[in-house]
Amino acid sequence: MDHIIKFFVLLILFGLVNACFAENDFGQCKGVVKSWASSSLDKEIRQKDKHTLKDLLFFLHVPRTGGRTYFHCFLRKLYPGYLECPRSYDKLRFDPSKEKCRLLVTHDDYSITSKLPKDRTSVVTILRDPVDRVFSTYEFSMEVAARFLVHPNLTSATQMALRLRSKTKGVSTLAIWPWKYLVPWMRNDLFTRRGARYSKGLNATDSSDPYDMEDFAMPLQEYINHPVAWDIVHNGATFQVAGLTNNSYIAEAHDVRHCVQKYKILGKYVLQVAKTRLDDMLYVGLTEEHRESATMFANVVGSQVISQLNAPNTSLDTIENIEKSSFSDADSDSSEHQNITSDRGASETTSIESGEASESTMTVGKLMDSYEVCISNLRKSQSSRRISSLKRVPVNFTKEARHQVPEEVLQQIRSLNDLDLELYEYARAIFNKQHNGSLLITEERLDNISSSAFGFILWKFLTLAITFFFILFLFLLIVNVRRRTFKVKK
Ligand SMILES: *[C@@H]1O[C@H](CO)[C@@H](O)[C@H](O)[C@H]1NC(C)=O
Ligand SMILES: *[C@@H]1O[C@H](CO)[C@@H](O)[C@H](O)[C@H]1NC(C)=O
Ligand SMILES: *[C@@H]1O[C@H](CO)[C@@H](O)[C@H](O)[C@H]1NC(C)=O
Ligand SMILES: *[C@@H]1O[C@H](CO)[C@@H](O)[C@H](O)[C@H]1NC(C)=O
Ligand SMILES: *[C@@H]1O[C@H](CO)[C@@H](O)[C@H](O)[C@H]1NC(C)=O
Ligand SMILES: *[C@@H]1O[C@H](CO)[C@@H](O)[C@H](O)[C@H]1NC(C)=O
Ligand SMILES: *[C@@H]1O[C@H](CO)[C@@H](O)[C@H](O)[C@H]1NC(C)=O
Ligand SMILES: *[C@@H]1O[C@H](CO)[C@@H](O)[C@H](O)[C@H]1NC(C)=O
Repeated sequence: MDHIIKFFVLLILFGLVNACFAENDFGQCKGVVKSWASSSLDKEIRQKDKHTLKDLLFFLHVPRTGGRTYFHCFLRKLYPGYLECPRSYDKLRFDPSKEKCRLLVTHDDYSITSKLPKDRTSVVTILRDPVDRVFSTYEFSMEVAARFLVHPNLTSATQMALRLRSKTKGVSTLAIWPWKYLVPWMRNDLFTRRGARYSKGLNATDSSDPYDMEDFAMPLQEYINHPVAWDIVHNGATFQVAGLTNNSYIAEAHDVRHCVQKYKILGKYVLQVAKTRLDDMLYVGLTEEHRESATMFANVVGSQVISQLNAPNTSLDTIENIEKSSFSDADSDSSEHQNITSDRGASETTSIESGEASESTMTVGKLMDSYEVCISNLRKSQSSRRISSLKRVPVNFTKEARHQVPEEVLQQIRSLNDLDLELYEYARAIFNKQHNGSLLITEERLDNISSSAFGFILWKFLTLAITFFFILFLFLLIVNVRRRTFKVKK
């Protein structure tokens, strides 16, 4: 009997000590996240004229939202090449303070604005349904990784990649975040699975589900639960807008992100910052509403770029000696196994054409017309690349196949991307307001820090209450057991 009591007392003590530590860690995390959030919100300049395009346009390109078509088919036609910030997608060599550039398009997160003249920068972005974004990230990782399968083994594949990278001056997919992590991870996995298949003499699969063919490729479910996906994919849009990605410029970003991943309730603070930033952007597009988004982009951003660059009084003439940016289509996939020469040729041609166009004759109408042509060409070439690459795995990702993915997996993706789901809803609301013609977005905050602080107090109270009732329950149990054993002894 005594043993049982001792055991329970120990258990309770252990529980309390544990809870105490957890509480401490939680408290610390909460402090870290809160102080980051309030300093971020302080730094956010409340711009009255946020609808006016400033000197520098920063396109915060969340991966797999279709930003590349905006870059190629709008921005490249509007801005002459010498106004592009050099090597936009390449963090290592980017130093905006040195260049009087006017256009920056990159996967770098919002924290890069710490290096930009903030009061002279307009930010734009595009968001996408988080579940589709995860699918697309998975598929694109596979597409780029599969190109390496032309090599007999991983050693020769990586050597080839290194050799080509040193030769090309442009930035390849493998050099830019997040693909520099996601593609090698997938590539190594593809080679491992191929090796295993060869040694088993296996050559076919009975699975028709491209998201679950484990003999050929990492299944989607394994992908989303892997630590790398946790680091980079999930809630990626929120972290990018908040400036908290794995690629952030600010040192405390990693602590803040880890705390938020550990204690979901702290996500409120991050969302608060991300929503405020979306509010302050010049333009927020949606991948799903492609047509409306593109039209709005031309009207809101394009028209202002045209008038800005055409104004006689721009500082264009004073720009000296700017290295012509030499990157090819960086987001994407002008990766080593493509015909880089022809690719480059094409993009340089557009940039020369566009230079001429934007100097005198470009209008919003013409911009939209050339956009239509450009995007259909881009889509064609993307799709043929994709098919030829993925047949090496071989998988065939189709819309129908996506519908076959079990609800359980979808639910997991949603739960892992809870912040992104909420931010996406918020972006939709902003988009609708923009779209309905009223560009005056009211400055209301849907929920503010103090209301989320209330959430905390409630949560803490609940934990305490639960602990209390648990101890009470144990106590009653013990007393009951003792009474019964007493009776039996009698
Ligand atoms: C990998 O392939 C290359 C080229 O065929 C070959 O020279 C090399 O020996 C291979 N390495 C291994 C470890 O099999
Ligand atoms: C495996 O299948 C491919 C075509 O799908 C064929 O070319 C190859 O010879 C097959 N290999 C074996 C060992 O059956
Ligand atoms: C970012 O994530 C990758 C992949 O998980 C990891 O290898 C890398 O160390 C991370 N970087 C930082 C700064 O956390
Ligand atoms: C042209 O720019 C200069 C300084 O950059 C400014 O002082 C001047 O007022 C501008 N003129 C016009 C017509 O905008
Ligand atoms: C690459 O492009 C050039 C010029 O368009 C073409 O002549 C060449 O055949 C292409 N090479 C490959 C391997 O497709
Ligand atoms: C992929 O599947 C679609 C629809 O089932 C089919 O039309 C297409 O030809 C397939 N593509 C490849 C490369 O097998
Ligand atoms: C904007 O228009 C859409 C339909 O076009 C409508 O569903 C939505 O409620 C409108 N939003 C506002 C804020 O008026
Ligand atoms: C936040 O909400 C509180 C009341 O819940 C209000 O007094 C305060 O003004 C709000 N702050 C902002 C910035 O909206």
